[in-house]
Amino acid sequence: MSTLIVLGTQWGDEGKGKVVYYLSKQADYVVRYQGGNNAGHTLIFEDKPFVLHLIPSGILFPDKYCLIANGVVVDLKSLKEEVNVLAKKKIVVKGRLFISEQAHIIFPYHKIIDGILEDENVKIGTTRKGIGPAYADKVKRIGVRAIDYLERDVFEDLLEKNLIEKAAILENKMDIASLKKEILGDYSEFSEFLRPFVANTSFMIEEAISKNKKILFESAQGTLLDLDFGTYPFVTSSNPIAGGVCSGAGVGPTKINSVLGVMKAYTTRVGEGPFTVELFDEVGDYFREKGEEYGATTGRSRRCGWFDSVVVRHSVRVNDIKRLIITKLDCMEDLDKIKICVAYKYKNNIYKDFPASRTIQKYAEPVYEEMPGFNGKVKGVTNFKSLPINAQRYIKRLEGLVGASIDLVSLGRKREEIIEVNGGTSWF
Ligand code: IMO
Ligand code: MG
Repeated sequence: MSTLIVLGTQWGDEGKGKVVYYLSKQADYVVRYQGGNNAGHTLIFEDKPFVLHLIPSGILFPDKYCLIANGVVVDLKSLKEEVNVLAKKKIVVKGRLFISEQAHIIFPYHKIIDGILEDENVKIGTTRKGIGPAYADKVKRIGVRAIDYLERDVFEDLLEKNLIEKAAILENKMDIASLKKEILGDYSEFSEFLRPFVANTSFMIEEAISKNKKILFESAQGTLLDLDFGTYPFVTSSNPIAGGVCSGAGVGPTKINSVLGVMKAYTTRVGEGPFTVELFDEVGDYFREKGEEYGATTGRSRRCGWFDSVVVRHSVRVNDIKRLIITKLDCMEDLDKIKICVAYKYKNNIYKDFPASRTIQKYAEPVYEEMPGFNGKVKGVTNFKSLPINAQRYIKRLEGLVGASIDLVSLGRKREEIIEVNGGTSWF
């Protein structure tokens, strides 16, 4: 048995797409267990940036199976577009891509409600892809699962009930009858598209495990966007944490072997919500430009700050992370001085553990420790010992602060730009 979870330790955009692409080569199955097309996983394929939103990047290797498990919410239009983009690159998904019967479907009304809530309710800064409203329906027990969608009479009945339930919020914004017509009009196209992919993915995973296959679980978003352990309510509506794999893919906890945390060498967040280490100065601008910190899904510019060890220590604990990859270290190489946030301060109290209080999250000040800049090139380096000594020290200091071992260092967007710190260990 060999299973590995790869997840984000900050607010998403840590570089999970590239890391999964790097490790997929060793895997047999790559499984998405939560989130939807709110994710944007950028990787370099055939020398060009390539963004995947829903389909795991393992799809780029012709011999891998890719599963979209029950914990994911699926926008069929967006999925179809993604499959078409892959087809243009001669990547065949039939027989390799499977979608759980129990995955919930995102409908146009979810996107509309996402937008209405953003404009008229608490602004979260969502991606407006309908993610939160689709999960809300799942929890309200009125959602439409893939299997329900494929049974036309079941689906029509559910659609009717859903549109009545949502009438109050939709009524003044649109003509509900034409919305219904649009959804029913799309039915044959989308149900035909979906049918061949639908499977019992939990069963497939169990079978793969029994055959000793290597399975990589790929998270979207990050621990600080987790519905339970993130900066609530400025979070996404699912559980990207390691525990999310059990409910999101139908796998028992004793079947999980290891967890690899992905962390950026500094911190970014997109959307609203507390962000203690946020910088409004030229260093923040430097990270944004050097790191090309613009959203892969919405194009929004990301908020940037120094590395926050309070955040990553929290992630290490919640996910039981033993091994980490640090990404974008090359995007720090021009700085003269580097700061690391080691604690939060609020009303003369020092917080080393991530606080749940909205007030403390919002008003706490970062307590920084300072280090000299790397004073040397990082980009292009191919082994740990050749990194500038200050860059090595930075990595070692972060390991000490967050309590896990940094076993991979990523120095660029390309798959090859990764250093295996302790030699080429097996990840499965
Ligand atoms: P990847 O997988 C960064 C953020 C949104 C918003 C909040 C809720 O690329 O790391 P949602 O649309 O999910 O209801 O929005 O979560 N968010 C992300 N931020 N990377 C992502 O995915 C994100 N997916 C959602 O900006 O603040
Ligand atoms: Mg992203």
